[in-house]
Amino acid sequence: MKLWAGRFEGETDKAADSFNSSLSFDKRLYACDIEGSKAHCTMLGNCAIIPNDEAKLIVKTLDQIRADIDDGKLVIENAEDIHSFVENELVSRIGSVGKKLHTGRSRNDQVALDTRLYLRDATKEVISLLKALISRLADISANNLETVMPAFTHLQKAQPTTLAHHFMAYAEMFARDCKRYAEAHERINVMPLGSGACTSTAYSIDRKAVADYLGFPAITANSMDAVSDRDFVIDFLSASAITMMHLSRFSEEIIIWSSDEYKYVELSDKYSTGSSIMPQKKNPDMNELLRGKTGRVYGDLMNMLTVMKGIPLAYDKDMQEDKECVFDAYDTVKACLEIFTALLGDMKINKDTLRKSTDGGFTSATECADYLAKRGVPFRDAHSIIGQLVIYCIKNGKTLQTLTLDEYNKFGDFDEEIYDAIKAENAIALRKAPGGPSPSAMKEEISAMRAYLSELN
Ligand code: ARG
Repeated sequence: MKLWAGRFEGETDKAADSFNSSLSFDKRLYACDIEGSKAHCTMLGNCAIIPNDEAKLIVKTLDQIRADIDDGKLVIENAEDIHSFVENELVSRIGSVGKKLHTGRSRNDQVALDTRLYLRDATKEVISLLKALISRLADISANNLETVMPAFTHLQKAQPTTLAHHFMAYAEMFARDCKRYAEAHERINVMPLGSGACTSTAYSIDRKAVADYLGFPAITANSMDAVSDRDFVIDFLSASAITMMHLSRFSEEIIIWSSDEYKYVELSDKYSTGSSIMPQKKNPDMNELLRGKTGRVYGDLMNMLTVMKGIPLAYDKDMQEDKECVFDAYDTVKACLEIFTALLGDMKINKDTLRKSTDGGFTSATECADYLAKRGVPFRDAHSIIGQLVIYCIKNGKTLQTLTLDEYNKFGDFDEEIYDAIKAENAIALRKAPGGPSPSAMKEEISAMRAYLSELN
């Protein structure tokens, strides 16, 4: 039964019906829809807009409908959308009393409420998955405060750092993602019901009571805005797109690091796959999929930005397109965070390879230049001298570590202390200002991060 059949004399074309229907995807909102209806109905009863005993019967029946759907006894089918399905089912169970549920309400404010209820939980779930990932990164970092490795710029070896420093850089990104979701949650967590189709309702409703019932701290301020706003959806998608960008970037590094050229890490058998033809292969498919799936979530964001960019106030059916973006982004981010956190926990870190790799590529050249600068050579001159020293090393198959003092002294005024100065561990230990890689600075960063995590609810 269509909720709007009264005004129509003819039947809707079958293709139009199926084109119009959102049930195949918005059925995921059934629990939100039912909880929202219970709140609305309880308020209608308490405000004497409908008789209280009828309101109670409706709420009780809605609970039964929810339980039957939860248990798989009631299959969601044969309706235009989830709102029509629930109402039809209600009417089929309790007859005309059920027809009073929609008093003072429109599907426009109803769907806004359902989506907000859904996203309220979704943001919390993503935040808890991010929290698990960050705490795994903090644990791995705490165990690798002295795992020396090269820092890269332009994917060229730059300066010595530690694995803890590198991993905590990602922890910081994921912590900002948490904040973005928390901010999105704040804007999502506003109650739109009572906005009606667009200009609210003439019934003496109690919007605050509905908000309290559903645990919303605030109600929307303008009914036109409330039924036509989807920026809260875009907030969620945008936080999701940025989170995926971070996951993708990290995945890219793991793909590079697990290659035979690098061998910095080894993925466990649990999270790698093989080749059907090349027996030797162990491929980082999980990370590649993570990188690939980032495109979907960017697509979800672009989709919704584009849907919203030209539609006049207030509600337009275009907005029905928001749901698949939300579900797709949510499912993708969730699955990606879960697999990535698991994969990191089982990844072997090849400390020796990382250490050896640090001495290649002249990562101590900055230390050499600083060594001269500290002895009074203007830094720009020191930079140029060490540049020539590097050319000498390349031509003679040497490293800064294997040069003799005589060779050093052909270029400037060096003594034995140069060998200590260019030791990666020493260079790292000196970088103890906040934000740097020294084990003491990293301990501070990790404990600040853990404090942040423990405050997150
Ligand atoms: N399925 C619709 C949506 O997702 C529900 C709202 C329908 N409102 C309407 N006036 N046709 O947006």
